[in-house]
Amino acid sequence: MTEPTVAVRGLAKTFYDEARGEVRAVDGIDFDCRPGEIFGLLGANGAGKTTTLRMLATILRPTAGVARLMGRDVVEEPVAARRTLGFYSATTALYPRLTARETLEFFARVNLYPEEKVDARVDYLVGRFGIAEYVGARVEKLSTGMKQKVSIARTVAHDPPILIFDEPTVGLDVINALEMARVIRELRDEGKTIIFSTHIMSEAEKLCDRIAIIHNGKILASDTLDALRVATGRHYLEDIFVDYVGGVEEMPGFIRESGSAAE
Ligand SMILES: Nc1ncnc2c1ncn2[C@@H]1O[C@H](COP(=O)(O)OP(=O)(O)O)[C@@H](O)[C@H]1O
Ligand SMILES: [Mg+2]
Repeated sequence: MTEPTVAVRGLAKTFYDEARGEVRAVDGIDFDCRPGEIFGLLGANGAGKTTTLRMLATILRPTAGVARLMGRDVVEEPVAARRTLGFYSATTALYPRLTARETLEFFARVNLYPEEKVDARVDYLVGRFGIAEYVGARVEKLSTGMKQKVSIARTVAHDPPILIFDEPTVGLDVINALEMARVIRELRDEGKTIIFSTHIMSEAEKLCDRIAIIHNGKILASDTLDALRVATGRHYLEDIFVDYVGGVEEMPGFIRESGSAAE
């Protein structure tokens, strides 16, 4: 089989916190991702999702283990690795005083998109994400939905093969959350490798081609939803999740949703 676009082996990150001492935020995880696939990291708050994704994005240095993006090691070749991915999170801010167009130009250039193609790329993004009407407006003046579109366009500005979405729907209303899911599927169908994190069962169920259940920095299971169903004998992802994680009371961030109640 071809080399996966994302390959993670024994990846770990330990923080030293004054109050808590040693915190094993990510505790030796393995996974692979491939083009045309949405790989989901499903876990409660504090499970280690963001720490994992920040290591992939070369924002945090791993304590141990290896991660390769398009064959580039995130520690050995951080600049080359960084260029292969776009990182989206609900908390990633835009520069308020730049216009939407300036934002896209800036992110294309900073990620070394070929200079002679930047204008054409920005035009394409403006058309594709429907931001022509306000492309000249400062980002600070835009609505949440408009900012979201600029943020997504910004993430893909340099046309990277790998896209990371860290809890991208946090704080979005239903319409904007659905729009986010639609765009992620579309990018998947174009052959991008997508890593998507969430603590919401229904989101993982609907969007992910494979789901990794992460808890206390460890991946407890990783497979298609159907395979997880067969392995546990349970139908709802919520029940599958609880089976692996071992009890709702341990999980302060656990979200129990109506419509998929346990027996
Ligand atoms: N900079 C840090 N210093 C100390 N502990 C941290 C730091 N960042 C994250 N943690 C801890 O690491 C664990 C995993 O956090 P995080 O990766 O943010 O989880 P998630 O994104 O799944 O909610 C949590 O216990 C969190 O408190
Ligand atoms: Mg997080």
